[in-house]
This record gives sequence, C-alpha cells and structure tokens, in this order.
Amino acid sequence: MLVLGLETSCDETACALVADGRTVRSNVIASQHELHAEYQGVVPEIASRAHVERLTPVLREALRQAGVQLDDVEAVAVGNRPGLIGSLLVGVSAAKGLAWGLGVPLVGVDHIHAHLYAGLLETEDPPFPALGLVVSGGHTSMYFMRSPIELHRIGATIDDALGEAYDKVATILGLPYPGGPMVDRLAASGDPHAFDFPVSRLAPGSLDFSFSGLKTAVLYAVRGVPGADAPARTLTDGVRADVCASFQRAASRAVILKLERAFAQLEAEGARPRSLLTGGGVTANSRLRAELTAFCITHGVEFRLPAMAYCMDNAAMIAGLGERLLASGHRSDMTLYATPVTTC
Ligand code: KG4
Ligand code: ZN
Repeated sequence: MLVLGLETSCDETACALVADGRTVRSNVIASQHELHAEYQGVVPEIASRAHVERLTPVLREALRQAGVQLDDVEAVAVGNRPGLIGSLLVGVSAAKGLAWGLGVPLVGVDHIHAHLYAGLLETEDPPFPALGLVVSGGHTSMYFMRSPIELHRIGATIDDALGEAYDKVATILGLPYPGGPMVDRLAASGDPHAFDFPVSRLAPGSLDFSFSGLKTAVLYAVRGVPGADAPARTLTDGVRADVCASFQRAASRAVILKLERAFAQLEAEGARPRSLLTGGGVTANSRLRAELTAFCITHGVEFRLPAMAYCMDNAAMIAGLGERLLASGHRSDMTLYATPVTTC
C-alpha cells in the first residue's frame, strides 16, 4: 500500500510517500528555522502561515521524487497530535481534503508514537517487547512496547524536554536557534569533565526525567551564582566548548540512567525488553547515539536508531506508522480533529 504522510505539527512542513509501511519512496521536508531564528523559538502564528504556503509545493515535490501521481496514493496519514494547534490544523485539513477527494482511507497519527516508528523504516521489525525512548524538542518519555503499535508510557519529563534543555543551553551560550546541533558540534572539541554538572536521578526507582536543574547549573556556571561569590565567566570559544561537552555528558548520563532502571524493573517483572527503539530530534546527538549503542551492546538488545534523515520531524515516520495502523483496522473519518496533546 502506498501511503502519503503529512506532518505539520511544529516548524517543519513535510510530505512523504512510503510503500508497505517501510520503503521510503520520498521524504521532503521544508524547515522554517530561518523564519523563527530571530525569535529564538517557534512563533506559532508564523509557523501556521508558513505551512499554508509550503504544503502544496512540498506535496508536489514528494510526488515528483517518488515518481508517482496523486491518483496512485492508496491512503493518507497525518500527524494530528500533539503539536501547535494552528500548525496541526493545516496538515489535518489538507489530509482530509486529499483523502476525501481521492476516495482513500484517512488515519490520524500521534507524532510521538511516529518518532518511535522512525527506526523501523527501511528495515525489519526488531523482536518485542521493546523499550521505547523519545527525546525531542517538546517531549522526553519512555515506553514499554508490545508491538510497533502497542505502547504504554512508563516515564516522562517532569519539567523540560531534553531538546528544550539543549536549545536553552545554546541560548545561554549565545548560539543560534535551534541550538542542539550547534551544542553537539562544539562539544566535540570540549572537555566533558571541565564542569561537574548534576545528573538528575529523582526518587529511587523513578523512571521520570528532569532537566531544569541541569539547565540552571549551566546558567550559573556561565553567568555566575546570584548572591554568591561566583562571578560570570568570559565566554571564550574554549569555555563554550567545555560547557557544551560537560552539559552533553550530564544530559546523556541522565537518559542512560533511566534506561538502566527501566530495563532492570522490566526484567524483574519477567518482561525483559529484547530491543530498544528511539526517536526524536535529540537522537541525532553524537554522544547520545554512542551511549545508546553501548547500552544495547551491554544488555544484548537489538537497537533501532533512526537514520539521521528520520530523527528530526518528518512525514515518512507518519506514513510508515499510518500504514501499520490501517493494516490493524484503525481508520479516521472526516471528524478527525487536531489536538495539542499526545495520546501515548
Ligand atoms: O523531534 P524534533 O525535530 O522536533 C520536536 O518534535 O520537538 O526535535 C527537535 C529538537 C530541538 O530541540 C533540537 O535542538 C534537537 O532536537 N536536536 C539536537 C540535535 N539535533 C537536533 N539536540 C542535540 N544534538 C543534536 N545533534
Ligand atoms: Zn518531533
């Protein structure tokens, strides 16, 4: 089945054509980063207007790259939750119009769930049950998965998402938005032990995450501690690189620590995960990728790390998961609505 996927939840306008839930025939993404950079974050109204302008050209390009016509599309999948409501509405309205006009099935897909599916594109399903980890700009959560479409949340951030922490650290260091990729690049030449930033653990046994304390520790290290005798630091290239490397080490350790806990708890309950599925923009991070790989080797679990092109927001993951949902009987109708909250 050839599924057209649409993704407009935040600041990427994306269309993709995916065959049989796995084979990516095209994956076109128009990023709006240049429109939001001067505001150091996504401006919702600018984002939704840009989606309206860009969706049709992106769709045409996705069809062209796949070498197919609109009539060849056999189903339409759309990310309808979570996200910015005005942005989501653009994709949902377009998807409804396309599905209705073509007379093909429509399915609404959860964007967070789709991030976990990204690692299953262009490859085989891993063995289940699996542990799922989503680390993006808006979400940081962990899941127990019985299959690619059955998941149960076992932990989530109680404050900032990991990508949000990366972006805020970048802002503290005076780096351009979105800061994650830049922090990653600078960290390569820094000393990860230059600053002893805290690794959040929360209560013993907790599978939740917290990154606001780490972010504040970076702020204090750079600008000084209010009311204490700790002066602001001069931001040389060397200091910036050291802060990035030390922050990245603490952030990655916090993620691995929670994966270790989850793995141990599930194993004790007789539900030992046989694979790890990860997704979201921060899975593009070089240190996290290396640490996740090491985690999987240590525990003897199969790793599904999305290819770089499918780490960030994209529509191939929406189309792929959409096909799997349709195959198991899920359908949406013309009452499909956009909603800012995830259902997983
Ligand atoms: O999944 P995504 O594209 O959008 C959301 O659904 O949020 O994730 C975007 C986030 C941003 O916070 C961005 O800074 C972060 O992913 N990111 C990275 C890297 N590449 C993107 N963070 C750390 N290292 C990277 N290489
Ligand atoms: Zn995302």
